[in-house]
Amino acid sequence: MLLRIPALLTPDEVSHCRQALENASWQDGRATAGPVAAQVKSNLQLPLDSKTGQQIGDLILDRLGRNPLFMSAALPLKVLPPRFNRYEGGGTYGNHIDNAFFTIPGTAIKVRTDVSTTVFFSDPDEYDGGELMVEDTYGEQGVKLPAGDAIVYPGTSLHRVNPVTRGTRYGSFFWTHSLVKSDEQRRLLFDLDQQIQRLTAEMPAHPSIAALSGTYHNLMRMWAEA
Ligand code: NI
Repeated sequence: MLLRIPALLTPDEVSHCRQALENASWQDGRATAGPVAAQVKSNLQLPLDSKTGQQIGDLILDRLGRNPLFMSAALPLKVLPPRFNRYEGGGTYGNHIDNAFFTIPGTAIKVRTDVSTTVFFSDPDEYDGGELMVEDTYGEQGVKLPAGDAIVYPGTSLHRVNPVTRGTRYGSFFWTHSLVKSDEQRRLLFDLDQQIQRLTAEMPAHPSIAALSGTYHNLMRMWAEA
């Protein structure tokens, strides 16, 4: 499932982050790529120990934790600290599938990459190209969202970033180890949860709410691993 999370960050937060990102020290993105990925990767990344990256990463994690749409779609168990990239001057990242696991820096904790997230820090009119292309159940989808928005997609997807031919594209990307490994099962739980929430808002006294919530939690019990 490909899901847009609108306005994860406010315009004020985005401009604050943008200023910090523009002043940060960037390094060649190939530093963190394996030998296969390095052949198709041409971008800049913040070093994993960057103070700026850690501060903005903490802000993103805080906002994610309070975002009902993200929580419902990703069902997070563990989230890898957000990373940051910058594409310009034809920079691109060709087709690839991300590693299955990443280790949280400075720990032995492994995060399985069930759910991928990209947060946009540049508005679409600031750059040409730079679409995140994701191979979805329904074919290839191109994603280019307003700054402050995020996109969530299955970690199993083949994806790429088209060359940025004008301007600069700043973004953050990270992975979530979900309570529910299967994208299909997560999707069913998400759809059920969205309908329960809608029913609760429109008909708060409806007797089916408790029964449907019970079914949701029983499916979680069957499918979730913690
Ligand atoms: Ni990737």
